[in-house]
Amino acid sequence: MKKLNLTLLSCLIALAASAQIKSTVHLHENAADGTIIPKEIYGQFSEHLGGCIYGGLWVGKDSEIPNIDGYRLDVFNALKKLQVPVMRWPGGCFADDYHWMDGIGPQEKRTKIANNNWGGTMEDNSFGTHEFLNLCEKLGCEPYISGNVGSGTPEELAKWVEYMNSDAPSTVADMRRANGRQEPWHVKYLGIGNEAWGCGGNMIPEYYSALFRRYTTYTRDYKGEHLYKIASGASDYDYNWTEVCMKAIGARMDAIAVHYYTAFGWSPGAKGHATDFNDEIYYKTISKACNIEPCIQKHISIMDQLDPQGHVDLLVDEWGTWWEVEPGTNPGHLFQQSTMRDAMVAALSLNIFQKYTRRIKMANIAQVVNVLQSMILTKGDQMVLTPTYHVFNMYKVHQDAEFIPVDVDAPAPVWAEYGAVPSVSVSASRKDGVMHVSLVNPSLDKSQTVTLDWDAYKAGAKVSGVILNAKDVHDFNDFGKEAKVVTKEFTGIKKNSKAVVVELPAASIVTLEIK
Ligand code: AHR
Repeated sequence: MKKLNLTLLSCLIALAASAQIKSTVHLHENAADGTIIPKEIYGQFSEHLGGCIYGGLWVGKDSEIPNIDGYRLDVFNALKKLQVPVMRWPGGCFADDYHWMDGIGPQEKRTKIANNNWGGTMEDNSFGTHEFLNLCEKLGCEPYISGNVGSGTPEELAKWVEYMNSDAPSTVADMRRANGRQEPWHVKYLGIGNEAWGCGGNMIPEYYSALFRRYTTYTRDYKGEHLYKIASGASDYDYNWTEVCMKAIGARMDAIAVHYYTAFGWSPGAKGHATDFNDEIYYKTISKACNIEPCIQKHISIMDQLDPQGHVDLLVDEWGTWWEVEPGTNPGHLFQQSTMRDAMVAALSLNIFQKYTRRIKMANIAQVVNVLQSMILTKGDQMVLTPTYHVFNMYKVHQDAEFIPVDVDAPAPVWAEYGAVPSVSVSASRKDGVMHVSLVNPSLDKSQTVTLDWDAYKAGAKVSGVILNAKDVHDFNDFGKEAKVVTKEFTGIKKNSKAVVVELPAASIVTLEIK
């Protein structure tokens, strides 16, 4: 009997050891050099695609769904809480088929078109320039307009900018006034096409670069306000695209974009399902998400060589998970559920972006409502907040905060199909004397003990936190059911004279506040 107990005990000790990881984190708050994490890296993307605009952001004034001036009230309030810093519109692929004049004037008279990129759905253009820019104004976010280069003309794009930004008594600005808007909107961000290598015109980078130079000659600054011009950038690992554009366009552009999706391929069935995945696919997902780091490092190194002064920024203006659509939904509408796995991808990606803000000045997750890795899903008058929404809500404390370098001493990463899966991912910032630290434990079965201290550590400091985790990493928030993945107060914090010790459960995300 005694022997059996000892064996059992040693088994339990071994199990406990294997079920826990230990790491230490030091925050070098004295070495913070004033680098600010731009709020725009928590940006959103909204496209005329599936239910993103219609039924998502916009239901129209006559809808039975509660709305303010046509904007869906529940969605609006949820986004307001998120402090969305910037929103990209109207695409995506839709942008290079979009003719802005179709979307102004009385809504009932607007041009109706088939949305040929996204399932051929009828587009009545009832959501156009005024509806988008007024929404941004109400939300307090910067609009990022994606201009049509693929099927539009330099004149059309120049006049769109004039319509939005000019306060001159010109015919185009008067048209805006006649449509109910006196003051210009002062749009700052202008994309010159989207995915010019694909749906934006199937161009080669040399040709696109020449077009960029031509189109931007006529997209003017108004009243001395600088229009920040963004070149359509590479698809993930296409470094040649970045190199050619950097050489041919150089500092004529304010930024070049890159798109990176956590997706396993584009052939039918390759993407896998949003809620049905095994452990191996979970780690494959995390490794693909984390593989954005070497990818952006390579783009940045090309930019550093060709633009050592750092005139041109890098924007990750589309990113996120891309799964097969939910069964029974229109394949062209890209409607997918979002689990705790997606939340892990979001937190790990944001921790990576926060490290590279020397070049990365904006990122826009795809997309804000009902499309791909959304913040919000709607069905009729119902709405759910996805786990990814909660990550953005937890991370808003880092907006425009000072980056704090961190040293992490943790077990070596494990390797999955696309590369390294870190044993812990950490990022930290400081604003108004308060530090915030976001920690991610990607392990599915091991909790993590993190011993954390900082330069001016004081045992008396107030440390609190919020946690996002789930009973099961497959959990998601569904319509008409109690939400399974929500943030809670984090109770795994202990302090001693030298450090704070936190216990991160498996597959969890924590943001600490240190005062
Ligand atoms: O976000 C969905 C689509 O993905 C966008 O329209 C396009 O730019 C990208 O290929």
